[in-house]
Amino acid sequence: MPPDKSISHRALLLGAITCGTSELVNVSSAQDVLSTKHCLEQLGVVFGLAEGRTMVYSEGVGGFCEPQVPLDCGNSGTTMRLLTGILAGSDIKATLSGDQSLMRRPMQRVVRPLLAMGGSINTDAGLPPLTIQGRPLQGKLWRPEVASAQVKSAILLAGLFARGVTRVEELHPTRDHTERMLQACGGKVQFGPGWAEVAASRLSPMHFRVPGDVSAAAFFVVLAACLPGADLHVAEVGLNPGRIGFLEVLRLMGADVSWTVDNDLPEPSGSIVVRGGQLRPFSIAGEMVPRLIDELPVLAVAAACAQGRSEVRDAGELRVKESDRIAALLTELNKLGVKTEEFPDGFAIIGGKMQGAEVCSHEDHRLAMALAVAGSLASGTTTIKQAGCVRVSYPGFWGDLAKIQGGEED
Ligand code: S3P
Repeated sequence: MPPDKSISHRALLLGAITCGTSELVNVSSAQDVLSTKHCLEQLGVVFGLAEGRTMVYSEGVGGFCEPQVPLDCGNSGTTMRLLTGILAGSDIKATLSGDQSLMRRPMQRVVRPLLAMGGSINTDAGLPPLTIQGRPLQGKLWRPEVASAQVKSAILLAGLFARGVTRVEELHPTRDHTERMLQACGGKVQFGPGWAEVAASRLSPMHFRVPGDVSAAAFFVVLAACLPGADLHVAEVGLNPGRIGFLEVLRLMGADVSWTVDNDLPEPSGSIVVRGGQLRPFSIAGEMVPRLIDELPVLAVAAACAQGRSEVRDAGELRVKESDRIAALLTELNKLGVKTEEFPDGFAIIGGKMQGAEVCSHEDHRLAMALAVAGSLASGTTTIKQAGCVRVSYPGFWGDLAKIQGGEED
């Protein structure tokens, strides 16, 4: 699988705020991660490539230079939100902007806690661009109104430069990559399911290997699970408990799927084995949602293959992702003949047969890949418009899909 996007962002950001040289192996070259890298370059961080390794040379946040133009976060919410946390406690001023989709995404969720810590951030009525004037910060306890790893991470990263202790208590546990990686760099961090705490820390340069992206694997795992006779092995992929809710749901659907953790530090990683068969419908709500938020589009495709009615609730966050993923997904699945119901916070899918049609990704990478899985399972031909947006997280997706359908082994 391609390198994990979430972990690659964090590896570059932590390398950038650490004094010295960090050495990273298997960093993603997807467009979102390149956005993080380019923003950091404009802040004066230097990257090098040596024998497939990404070297990060930095003097830490104190060495950042003030950019003269807005930093372009592209399509990447993770870049904008995590960088805002880092810049809030710096001593420079910077403006962050992005593409049309990112400029519509809510930023108050990170701005409010950072203002409460003493930060100075201007928005356009809660939306980007964000102008951050770095200031001395004071640690805080914050309970975000949404369960979001991006919000948690922005607050924790700001907490590294704040006086006192910064603590986040979540509505539901989210992925804990930031906490694990901070610990690996010697940061003063403590955490458990649904909470994390940091104090001002001097980080040590890291030597870190990014595992494969389990959210990228999800597209092929679901495709195999829905295809009787299919047999798929995924190697060296991240298995963080905050990311593998979709595997648990597939198992509840009756799929023959298993996974094994081979390494645990700092990030769990291992392999997944899945064999195709007949699936039952599912019901997803509450604490499970943040653990599979990015996999809901492809799980909707699995629901379309299961006999009966599946339902997703408490997933209103899908409306503020790269697209309104509830409206866009249902519009496109309807074109393939899938019966659906729409709710403010989710959807229902009535499983049956899918027929090929012309569909559109709405320039959303995860919708493009979920529709590719749907098209592979539907009868006839499916044409996906705006299919190039897979470059945001998985540039090699179309080639890998063709390889897997051809039954090739790597
Ligand atoms: C991410 C967290 C999730 C996820 C996004 C990446 C991260 O967003 O949807 O693709 O890297 O922390 P939220 O934390 O806003 O739900």
